[in-house]
Amino acid sequence: MAGENNIPRSVGIIMDGNGRWAKKRGVPRLMGHNAGMEAMKRIVIASSNMGIENLTVYAFSTENWKRSTEEVSGIFKLIVKYVRSELAELVENDVHINILGDYSMLPDDSVKSIDKLLKETEHCNGMNFNIALNYGGRDEIVKAVNELLADREVTNGPGISRDVTEEEISAHLYTGSLHCDIPDPDLVIRTSGEERMSNFLLWQSAYSELMFTDTLWPDFSEDEYREMLNEYTHRNRRFGGREKEDK
Ligand code: IPE
Ligand code: IPE
Ligand code: MG
Repeated sequence: MAGENNIPRSVGIIMDGNGRWAKKRGVPRLMGHNAGMEAMKRIVIASSNMGIENLTVYAFSTENWKRSTEEVSGIFKLIVKYVRSELAELVENDVHINILGDYSMLPDDSVKSIDKLLKETEHCNGMNFNIALNYGGRDEIVKAVNELLADREVTNGPGISRDVTEEEISAHLYTGSLHCDIPDPDLVIRTSGEERMSNFLLWQSAYSELMFTDTLWPDFSEDEYREMLNEYTHRNRRFGGREKEDK
């Protein structure tokens, strides 16, 4: 049935294509990441203005450590730069930042900047802006299961078992163990023409609508974003059930 959804409450974005954007221009990859950061700034403010309640972006995966030290440390330096230049505007827009992933493995100055970002947006009640950083969907599920096992040893003693529930796993994921629950993404967007999840929100995207575009992330515009959000309103989400008109 057309036109049955409102704008999504929760959006996930796999911001891909920074390297190819740079290659096309014959400039260093880091310039692509810098341009990607600019695109992210635009989309965050646009999302908040449009009333999206949760935006989750994939900034660095658990597999991205495979890249050169130069690229990896350059990406982390950009995070420090982002915090310095954007914190005031984020607070002004009442944006609440969360990190999904174990960022303690980043260099000290990045960790300090992130802590500042979290602390200073802690009181904000507007959009949740969730940055998946050193994030991997499998890693997140494994961590959740291990936490559940550890909890059981404490409450039940070793060897006493009972079935684990979906709710328990959800509650132990990064998205379930923050100050508030981050709802599963209604829509996941990936730029750059690749059509895969690359370990992004594997559990949470079970019923997400997926959209792909050939646009490289630094070129992703507010207009294209709005078009996708509009397309979402026409998608028919069934969650394994029947079409609404068919019930
Ligand atoms: C996405 O752009 C950013 C990160 C993965 C950190 P890429 O760097 O993956 O860009 P491509 O895919 O090489 O073009
Ligand atoms: C996914 O992009 C990770 C981020 C956008 C941060 P990749 O560029 O790492 O994914 P693959 O390697 O093409 O699957
Ligand atoms: Mg890529």
